[in-house]
Amino acid sequence: KPSVKKIFLYLHKLAVDFFKKNLSSDSGKKARDYLKRRNISALISSNFELGYSLNSWHSLEEFFRKKGITIEDAIKCGLIIRNEKGHCYDRFRDRLMFPILDYQGRVVAFGARALGDEEPKYLNSSESLIYKKSEHLYGLYQAKQHIVKEKSVLLTEGYIDVLSLVEAGFKNSCAILGTSLTKEQIFRLSQLTSKIILLLDGDAAGQKAALRSAEMILSQGLDCQVAILPNGEDADSFLKKFGSKDLTYILKNAEEGLAYCLKMVRKNKSPKEQILWVENFLDKISDFKLKSFYLPKIAYGLGLSESELRQGLKNVSQTQTIRDSVFS
Ligand code: GTP
Ligand code: MN
Ligand code: MN
Ligand code: MN
Ligand code: MN
Repeated sequence: KPSVKKIFLYLHKLAVDFFKKNLSSDSGKKARDYLKRRNISALISSNFELGYSLNSWHSLEEFFRKKGITIEDAIKCGLIIRNEKGHCYDRFRDRLMFPILDYQGRVVAFGARALGDEEPKYLNSSESLIYKKSEHLYGLYQAKQHIVKEKSVLLTEGYIDVLSLVEAGFKNSCAILGTSLTKEQIFRLSQLTSKIILLLDGDAAGQKAALRSAEMILSQGLDCQVAILPNGEDADSFLKKFGSKDLTYILKNAEEGLAYCLKMVRKNKSPKEQILWVENFLDKISDFKLKSFYLPKIAYGLGLSESELRQGLKNVSQTQTIRDSVFS
């Protein structure tokens, strides 16, 4: 008897094939038109195995039944939903389907975009035995060899950003998918390269994510650069408006990660909060050598001397100790 994991993977494999077939069928015209509108070529669409979930409540369910699949398994892995009344229906309906692959290229989940302005704009698979959100990066499987070759990875926000980047020749690209960058994701990347270039949306959320992500990357001892897109643009919209030459320019002018963090911290936090940020950042670093490598750079970035910074950190940790002893 195959393991539950094997069954879930098999169901996802069947689902990808089903969604792909839908995309090229008569009923897939709507989704093909959407791809055209967003400038996604047939080649990219096929490399990333894009598909379409039909505008129907039971099409995947029926497909599974015809294949002799136990619907209970499809429910457990999240592709079919059963409500409180016991009715079953397809989780994904009338959406453009983006398969999320694991490191070995197996489909473990889907992202699904509405073709119009229905909510939510993106609907994702729930976590399951084969899908832990924090472990995966969209497009990493396809980007692997290019990341090694380019000695760097371009980390962006969304599915379409990756597709547009790859289309424009930036094949070492993958996406975080809305969530914040995790240790596991950084570990995966660190096996391929030591340089991560953040190319997040040019909005407040993107800036916040860049700061958080850069902190994580630096504390793991990797090189980080932050590329800044104009306000309101993401990688996809930028490429469409300005083209790949301008993006190359943006990437060339990317800021070194630590300098970027310190600039943001200095801009947005009081001197006291700045020290707290430093303390918190250094706490995340287990490598002592790395800490002492960063310390003078941090001082410089905050406009302090190294001894001023050390004194500030000492004061903070003393206050901390006093507070701890009071509350313990
Ligand atoms: P497009 O209109 O397709 O270009 O999306 P966007 O550029 O507005 O996406 P946004 O920058 O808001 O989000 C980037 C990524 O975050 C998406 O690719 C998704 O992975 C994720 N995301 C965005 N909106 C949602 C949502 O409503 N639900 C979920 N689960 N994820 C989302
Ligand atoms: Mn959005
Ligand atoms: Mn965004
Ligand atoms: Mn976008
Ligand atoms: Mn975006």
